[in-house]
Amino acid sequence: MKKLVALVLCLMMMAAFTASASALTVAFSQIGQESDWRTANTDDLCKAIEAEGWTLVYDDAQQKQENQIKALRNFISQGVDYILFTGVVTTGWDEVLKEVNEAEIPLILVDRMPDCADEIEYAAAFGGDFTEEGRRMGFWAGNYFKSIGRGEEEINAVILEGTTGATAATERTNGILEALQNFPNIKVIASQTGNFTRAEGQPVMEAWLKAYPDIDLVLAENDDMGLGAVAAIKAAGKVPGKDIIVVGCDAVKVAFEAIVAGEMNATIECTPLYSRFVVDCIKRLEAGETFGRDVLHPEEFVYDAEGGIAYNAEGDKLSIKAGDVIDERLY
Ligand code: AHR
Repeated sequence: MKKLVALVLCLMMMAAFTASASALTVAFSQIGQESDWRTANTDDLCKAIEAEGWTLVYDDAQQKQENQIKALRNFISQGVDYILFTGVVTTGWDEVLKEVNEAEIPLILVDRMPDCADEIEYAAAFGGDFTEEGRRMGFWAGNYFKSIGRGEEEINAVILEGTTGATAATERTNGILEALQNFPNIKVIASQTGNFTRAEGQPVMEAWLKAYPDIDLVLAENDDMGLGAVAAIKAAGKVPGKDIIVVGCDAVKVAFEAIVAGEMNATIECTPLYSRFVVDCIKRLEAGETFGRDVLHPEEFVYDAEGGIAYNAEGDKLSIKAGDVIDERLY
């Protein structure tokens, strides 16, 4: 009899947990839709939340911090159960994120971390290791030029930076410059924002091609800007991937296609697919688990035309041939 009562109680508790988990409202403050990466990130998270039967409250801030602040305050007044947040820029979130804390809504940081992260409460954090991605761009480029016998030649590089003030941009730039110290033959002759978009990356590259006739290397802090550079190089009558080496970041499928077509040379992975971590995290938080303050970085790789180029200081991480894995790319 006692066993039966225990079983019934257990089933009742499970039913109560399932009922409360299925009634969750999860709000997501997204930056905008500036790149293929961002579109994949939005789709991945929104679809996964809805697939759980949770109510999704989604806001696209169209690249404006003030829109994100407004959205966060709306989420608070709606009394949502969880807030997913990635900030368009690094600074200026202190006040509104403290308001989220005061409302006792668990905050999950995704993708880009705000600079006030140490002063606020958050339930969990999942994001890219942007400095490491930048280092990989620099190491891949330096080692690639060595591999084609141009390791001693003076190489003129340009950096297409992401959105000014975004961690993904500042940290990638820092990582690139740090890695390039190992390759004194590579000189950065220009560096400017292309705002993580193809539309803004292309004219920046067009202007550089007019100002500097001897560009050898483009380090684009995302693939969209890399593809904008490819279009500008073609329009200038040069051959992208040969006359000018193009390295992107994100590893989106269109970049794989450009690599296979010989127009881009490499892409450094930055996965947008966070739903597998976020959904599991919400379920575990609901079950009473807690997470530490560490930012979880997914495992990522580097892809190029042939494979085998080292992209770290130790020289033991080697690029993967994009053509071998292009069919498995989900975004
Ligand atoms: O924060 C991630 C970056 O933001 C991606 O590299 C870029 O494509 C996006 O817009």
